[in-house]
Amino acid sequence: MCGIVGYIGPKEKKEILLDGLQELEYRGYDSAGIAIIEGKKLHDFKAVGKLKNLREKTKNYTSEGFGVSIGHTRWATHGKPTELNAHPHLGAYSYVVHNGIIENYQELKKELQQGGVTFLSQTDTETIVHLFEKYHNEGLTPFEAFKKTVNRLEGAYATLLITEAAPDTIFFAKNGSPMLIGFDGEEVYFASSDTPIIGKANEVYYLEDGEYGYVQNGKVHLFDSHGEKVFHTQPLIADKAMAQKEGYRFFMEKEIYEQSRVMGETMMGRVLEEEIVLDELDADFFEGINAIKICACGTSYHSALTAAYLFERLAKIRCDVEIASEFRYKEPLLTQDTLFVTISQSGETADTLEALKMAKRAGLKSLSVCNVDNSSIVRESDTAILTRAGIEKGVASTKAFATQTMVLWMLTLYVGQVKGTLSKEVLKSEIDAMLHTPKALIVTDELHAKLHRLSKRYLHGHGFFFIGRDIFYPLALEGALKLKEISYLHAEGYPAGEMKHGPIALADAELFTIALMPKTMHYDKIKSNVEELSARDATICAISPLPFELADDFVQTQYSSHPMVEFFEMMVVTQLLALEISVRLGNDVDMPRNLAKSVTVE
Ligand code: M6R
Repeated sequence: MCGIVGYIGPKEKKEILLDGLQELEYRGYDSAGIAIIEGKKLHDFKAVGKLKNLREKTKNYTSEGFGVSIGHTRWATHGKPTELNAHPHLGAYSYVVHNGIIENYQELKKELQQGGVTFLSQTDTETIVHLFEKYHNEGLTPFEAFKKTVNRLEGAYATLLITEAAPDTIFFAKNGSPMLIGFDGEEVYFASSDTPIIGKANEVYYLEDGEYGYVQNGKVHLFDSHGEKVFHTQPLIADKAMAQKEGYRFFMEKEIYEQSRVMGETMMGRVLEEEIVLDELDADFFEGINAIKICACGTSYHSALTAAYLFERLAKIRCDVEIASEFRYKEPLLTQDTLFVTISQSGETADTLEALKMAKRAGLKSLSVCNVDNSSIVRESDTAILTRAGIEKGVASTKAFATQTMVLWMLTLYVGQVKGTLSKEVLKSEIDAMLHTPKALIVTDELHAKLHRLSKRYLHGHGFFFIGRDIFYPLALEGALKLKEISYLHAEGYPAGEMKHGPIALADAELFTIALMPKTMHYDKIKSNVEELSARDATICAISPLPFELADDFVQTQYSSHPMVEFFEMMVVTQLLALEISVRLGNDVDMPRNLAKSVTVE
């Protein structure tokens, strides 16, 4: 996830920026850069990879006297992790850093290109600096030009801009992505989270969406749609670990809450009104492909299982899914008309990587769905689609699962499009549902409080069954895995219709059933499966948009327009339930016992 720092004042700026960026390393990044204006002199440095590369590049430079400065760590989303794509982005005499997504950047870019502007990078961010200079060159003051630029931006952004046209000023704007201003007397800092300014600033102001302005002579001028406003700072907390979690108790909790936002990034530029665009795939990528085989482990395997339902139902293409560690030793029959897909959050999972190498040796075309660009799996694959979830720190995967599933859903529609197996109407209704997904992922205070309350009933007992049908079966598997990983309680995911073939023998009041009961997918069937369990006295927690009178606990979901929207909303419920149970049991939510985030051994 990208990070921003900024500083205006007399101190040495290079070290302030580099130290600040270092504090943002935990968010993950693949390139970094800084820009400084001292007097009228502009300096900028960028480097791919770790900050030590940027430190090396700047080792002979020290800033002197008063100046303005901005820095950035970039996690590649639009465009590869290259120096040209790294921030700050340069116009003719200004620099910009930005977090978030400018949704209308293509339209803005086209307009600027028609006016003769040449773009150096593949990023959406570069439009900001060119737009600013265009308005400034038309005669507006730097602040008017910045204001007009911000008014043109659609989407999420936190941005800082410095310019030779106003070398004593930093311009800032925030909408959707976090940014704060830190104060130490006349010196002013900017950052995308508290950590870079702890120990430097004493007071802080957290910018609200829609706010923008500039800082000059130690004074911040803050505006919103009503004009200039008065604001009040607050003391800055001094606990770095706490600050990295951005106020959440655990990284996993933060990542659950982030899902709604990152889903927007996953879809950005790919889900258009009537079409799915995947620039990563050549036009003829699916030529000669008649089947798909997916290999993955753990949570990634569950997203693969979900995708198999979608590929066959929507795209009408055969799809098998295999656990990578099983696939490796089964002497599988592989045919060249099969696309080999690997799914991995880390891109380093040994079993998945080896499975991919096997498939390649057999001459299969390969595609990976991954969260980490340049990881081993991405490098080994013919092509990769990045999930854009940002770094995931909690060992129990949450936002990676959500974004993997979204990418696979997109891929399904893409295959349906290119193979002509999907009607225009179905494609349109699937896209409409996709665009609703971020809403269904919002964690409301009521929902979280309800799951906190409800979790106290589920701390003991002899086990959990998560049950569901169709795509809700892999979701049941994933819900059970989440609970197992962080609560250490026994939990299984089961196809609801299969309970009567054995597991129902376990049913009694101490058996907890988490029933996924979507309205849009086999509701009556799963209802009777749950009734059978209830008749044997199992304790039932039903998750459904429809009231269910036999439930001991009931979590009512809000969205029931499309199975995938229901899927994502129910996913959040199961994640929060696991989290709250784990907290009550006093476990280490982010680093559960015996587990590692990246499993690079067989
Ligand atoms: O990085 P990968 O997605 O390849 O990792 C695969 C599994 O190790 C991973 O999903 C694991 O199951 C997680 N701890 C699940 O929360």
